[in-house]
Amino acid sequence: MKRILVTGATGFIGSHTLVELIDRGYSVIGIDNLANSSLDVLNRIKDITGIRPEFREGDIRDKEFLNHIFQMFEVDSVIHFAGYKAVDESVREPMLYYSNNLIATQLLLEAMQKNGIKKLIFSSSCTVYGDSKYVPITEESETCPVNPYGRTKYYIENMLRDLSCSDSHWKILNLRYFNPVGAHPTGLIGEDPLGIPNNLFPFLTQTAIGKRDAMLVFGSDYDTPDGTCIRDYIHVVDLAKGHLAALEALDNIQGINFINLGTGNGSSVLEIVNTFKKVNDVEFIVEMAPRRKGDAAKVWADTTKAKKVLKWKSELTLEDMLRDAWNWQQKNPNGYI
Ligand code: WQD
Repeated sequence: MKRILVTGATGFIGSHTLVELIDRGYSVIGIDNLANSSLDVLNRIKDITGIRPEFREGDIRDKEFLNHIFQMFEVDSVIHFAGYKAVDESVREPMLYYSNNLIATQLLLEAMQKNGIKKLIFSSSCTVYGDSKYVPITEESETCPVNPYGRTKYYIENMLRDLSCSDSHWKILNLRYFNPVGAHPTGLIGEDPLGIPNNLFPFLTQTAIGKRDAMLVFGSDYDTPDGTCIRDYIHVVDLAKGHLAALEALDNIQGINFINLGTGNGSSVLEIVNTFKKVNDVEFIVEMAPRRKGDAAKVWADTTKAKKVLKWKSELTLEDMLRDAWNWQQKNPNGYI
């Protein structure tokens, strides 16, 4: 039975994509080194879908482990999520990001090549665009990452371009995510960062539930209507469904292609904070703080190509994202067990 190999399977986006793959009847094999996620996710996926996904713990930098997976399971294609994704952590720990994102992906590609698997969906990022002069950002916009995280994604995209040029049998879709947020509407799976959250949404929900004393807004002097940074927040379930659309389009892809996965709408940090309070009827302290290194001022997607190539667009609203994020946090005050 042909399977989809999902790396980073117990992570935030990987777990939500596994739910959609299983619901759509795909046969999957998930792998994860559990460095940034919990095995409990598999129980939750079973609670949602009725099926506990096939899973093996391991690191994609372990060649023996990868070859074992490819020999044990008849893999048709790979969705590669495994990687670290916090912009400011990448500024503090660049080598961690080059090893875990760039080197790990190279080793995965070599193992795929060795086992004759040449269909890949890669979890890329809007951070490859850096502080784009123009918004909305199209796939033809200049790629000029401004932080180590974005540079790892940028270098991987170029490694994939070179691989595609060297061997026309490869079918590769680079999906450039904007800001994935929210949680599954059941509240059974969601975003569960280790330690102090780097990203806005988990910091917001942890402040609202009382785990953090105050919400800090990093920078209020940007060239935006309210002075705070603007991002294109996309519901993680919409993003997961974008991967199903990409999988269905993959066989018709010639070579390599790059596609933005966003909503096409921008929201400022203050808009997010104030709408969160209103939608969820919660109150907490919000303080202005200095800018954060590596942040771009305005980032939101042009979604034309996703509609054309993947026949996909986001459907869930900002309110859905804020409500589902809060529902997950309330049901899991300390995240996964
Ligand atoms: C958003 C805004 C912060 C925390 C993320 C992912 C990255 C990529 C793009 C997929 C910024 C501000 C944050 C806080 C704040 N997605 N903020 N107070 O940096 O856009 O990157 O989306 O690849 O993987 O990390 O997201 O949520 O960290 O920040 O004011 O406590 O919220 O300054 O303007 P970012 P983020």
